[in-house]
Amino acid sequence: MDLRTALLQGQKLLEDAKIDAPRLTAEVLLAHAVGRDRAWLFAHCDEELRELWWIHYGRYLHQRIEGTPTQYIVNRQEFFGRDFRVTPDVLIPRPETEHVIEIALRRPAQSILDIGTGSGAIAVTLALEMKARVRATDISIKALRIAAENARRLCAQVEFIACDLASPLDDAIFDLVVSNPPYVPETDSLPREVREHEPAVALYGGADGLDVYRRLIPEARRLLQPGGRLIMELGYRSAEAVQTLLSGWAEVEIETDLAGIPRVISAVLTRSLY
Ligand SMILES: C[S@@+](CC[C@H](N)C(=O)[O-])C[C@H]1O[C@@H](n2cnc3c(N)ncnc32)[C@H](O)[C@@H]1O
Repeated sequence: MDLRTALLQGQKLLEDAKIDAPRLTAEVLLAHAVGRDRAWLFAHCDEELRELWWIHYGRYLHQRIEGTPTQYIVNRQEFFGRDFRVTPDVLIPRPETEHVIEIALRRPAQSILDIGTGSGAIAVTLALEMKARVRATDISIKALRIAAENARRLCAQVEFIACDLASPLDDAIFDLVVSNPPYVPETDSLPREVREHEPAVALYGGADGLDVYRRLIPEARRLLQPGGRLIMELGYRSAEAVQTLLSGWAEVEIETDLAGIPRVISAVLTRSLY
């Protein structure tokens, strides 16, 4: 069998199993099985499928049909134009989170903290895009191992700290605090693929999804210098409640994504709050 036929067969299996983007998924999984990228695959679609490739490809298709996200099969996800390693120990970075980066890049910062770094997507990206000292925390040691590996691979200088929010860090040492906290209300029903494969600690934010925001906002107030900024990703339908939690902060702004959904909130720590 040649690679073209293998692709068509994989696509058909994925289609029958009602997997999203079956053609693209088949390409990504076959490229991974062959150990090349998709561009190579297109240039070599007449090549014979070797037995070992077939074994790997079959296993990946099976995993995907059973519900494992493609990113956990190939152990990678692109974020802001760079490849991040991901495993089931970390949340798969989402394209929506790139808005946090875009907003952070609008104003220079010298000392940045990313709370709940996961794969390190935000911290590593900001370290590479800005000339700043970047620190990042997570409560999950396993996540921090992946984040540190990503920083090393991408040559980013980030200091990683295992802790609850930012508990060991001194007061007033940052001019930017960023976070994409766990914000899914515990009663929400997530797609099976997310619920069964992504780490619960990265997803759920208590009964109403706001538990981490309630603790994170006072913590950011402690960590920021006056005039410093807090930028957070927003959970679905959480914008109003999070805005209320930011009462007393200045320049509170909500940014919507391309679909018009409120995605990111930013605020500046005023001297009066300090
Ligand atoms: C929604 S994920 C975000 C991961 C990554 N920043 C991203 O945007 O892809 C939330 C992260 O916060 C971490 N986390 C949850 N509770 C925490 C806490 N109390 N202190 C520090 N990190 C926490 C989780 O382990 C997870 O990595």
